Amino acid sequence: MGATIVVGGFFGDEGKGKIASYLTLNDGLAACVRAGVGPNAGHTIMHLGKTIKIRLVPSGFVNKETKLLIGPGVLIDSEVLLKEIKEVQAYDRLIIDQKCGIIEKEHIETDKKGNLKNKIGTTGTGTGPANADRALRKIKLAKDANELSAFIGDVPDELGKLISSNQNILIEGTQGMYISLYHGEYPYVTSKDVTASAACSDVGIGPKNVDEVIVVFKSYVTRVGAGPLENEISEEEINKKGWSEFGTVTGRQRRAAPFNFELAKKACIINSATQIALTKLDILYPQTAGISDFSKLDNQSSQFIKKIEEETGVPVTLIGTGANENHIIDRRR
Ligand code: IMP
Ligand code: MG
Repeated sequence: MGATIVVGGFFGDEGKGKIASYLTLNDGLAACVRAGVGPNAGHTIMHLGKTIKIRLVPSGFVNKETKLLIGPGVLIDSEVLLKEIKEVQAYDRLIIDQKCGIIEKEHIETDKKGNLKNKIGTTGTGTGPANADRALRKIKLAKDANELSAFIGDVPDELGKLISSNQNILIEGTQGMYISLYHGEYPYVTSKDVTASAACSDVGIGPKNVDEVIVVFKSYVTRVGAGPLENEISEEEINKKGWSEFGTVTGRQRRAAPFNFELAKKACIINSATQIALTKLDILYPQTAGISDFSKLDNQSSQFIKKIEEETGVPVTLIGTGANENHIIDRRR
């Protein structure tokens, strides 16, 4: 056994957090490792009846036995992270890689004005300017941030040990394929690549140690910020369909469009998907709410899943049917 990667197949906000937390709870994972950009991500997790919003702590925090690691490619906002560590009680099981870049006040200020705010519509969390400073070789690293000293370690080294002792690990990506700096519609993208290959590099494992790549799609497409969105529907239609969502980090209303099979197909190829996780089926088809057995789905919703499998050639193994962590159809078992 090696690693499983979870990444987003559309524009972010596909529900990766829910899938990653489900897998960590149910698959007895030794470690959940955060890859991706930084605190521009927002994961909403419903655990034991409580809604928790996190931006940096890995979504696997729900399993107290699981080690929580943050890879060197991820940017840290110390204030955000320390608050989350306290909220989810992760003091004794979280390791931040010594080489993570640190977001400082000036990065956030730069991200909240000019081109980044007005043209791109970034999250304003400082990630783009911080990655620019990393490329300029002047960003501060986590090993030099006193406030993080209790958590500093060597994440690639930890992962190497876990993999060589045949433990299962989950690598949690953030954002989505179509806001990748390389594969999205530049310049309306985030500040680095966010595909499965980038996730490997973010945490420091080689591609041959990856067993499964789960690409997560929502049952409809949403996007926040500027940039193209094919077949976009109006705000009025969004509300009528019950697809209204607000950004976890920014509170902005998300734009929306129906499920896009072409985008899904391409995302499966570029990420070398071995499985698809489909979330919010119950929002598209309310009659599926709370179902956890595939055979109980009606014809309309099972045809939708069949079409995704036919178009992409990848099996849909996990299907979200509600906000709760057990509202999921798991076809792997
Ligand atoms: P940045 O990542 O904050 O630089 O923002 C660049 C673009 O990516 C903007 O359109 C953001 O709305 C979008 N974006 C960044 N992170 C996320 C995310 O976690 N979910 C959805 N959109 C995101
Ligand atoms: Mg999100």
